[in-house]
Amino acid sequence: MTSLRVLYQPCTVVLLLVLCLILETGQGQENRDNLLSLNMSVSQLQRENEFSVTFTVTNNMDKCMVVEISTEDNPNITYLTAHAKYTACICDTHNYFWDIDASANTVIRGKAEVVSAKNICPDGEILYPETGFMKFATADIIVTP
Ligand SMILES: *[C@@H]1O[C@H](CO)[C@@H](O)[C@H](O)[C@H]1NC(C)=O
Ligand SMILES: *[C@@H]1O[C@H](CO)[C@@H](O)[C@H](O)[C@H]1NC(C)=O
Repeated sequence: MTSLRVLYQPCTVVLLLVLCLILETGQGQENRDNLLSLNMSVSQLQRENEFSVTFTVTNNMDKCMVVEISTEDNPNITYLTAHAKYTACICDTHNYFWDIDASANTVIRGKAEVVSAKNICPDGEILYPETGFMKFATADIIVTP
């Protein structure tokens, strides 16, 4: 019995360590995926192929982040307002808007990336320590004939 216990104990310890590592990694990743929540929505304007695009970016952490917000080039989309890219200090929720003209059904894809640009957040603001996190959101654009 004694020898069995001696033999098995190291394995148990190793197994527990591996389990803990797996659990911890899983949790870490889940948190990272959750830094920002995005919602992209599209509503039709007066003309059938003109739309207003709203991209909502929410910071889920308790510290501000510098976020670069953009939409990807798409051959079926023309920007009525400028195809602006925004860099903003996001501490809670912000909305970004573009007016577009769509020549055919398509999908608009928005991107939010946590960057390390200087002088965007107020001086002295303690920022979330990681940058490089990137997330995408899409919205279908249906051009009714
Ligand atoms: C996204 O925005 C649309 C339009 O404002 C809203 O109906 C929908 O509930 C939002 N979805 C989420 C997940 O917040
Ligand atoms: C643009 O529209 C054309 C014609 O409907 C379609 O074949 C193509 O897949 C669309 N491209 C994109 C990126 O949506």
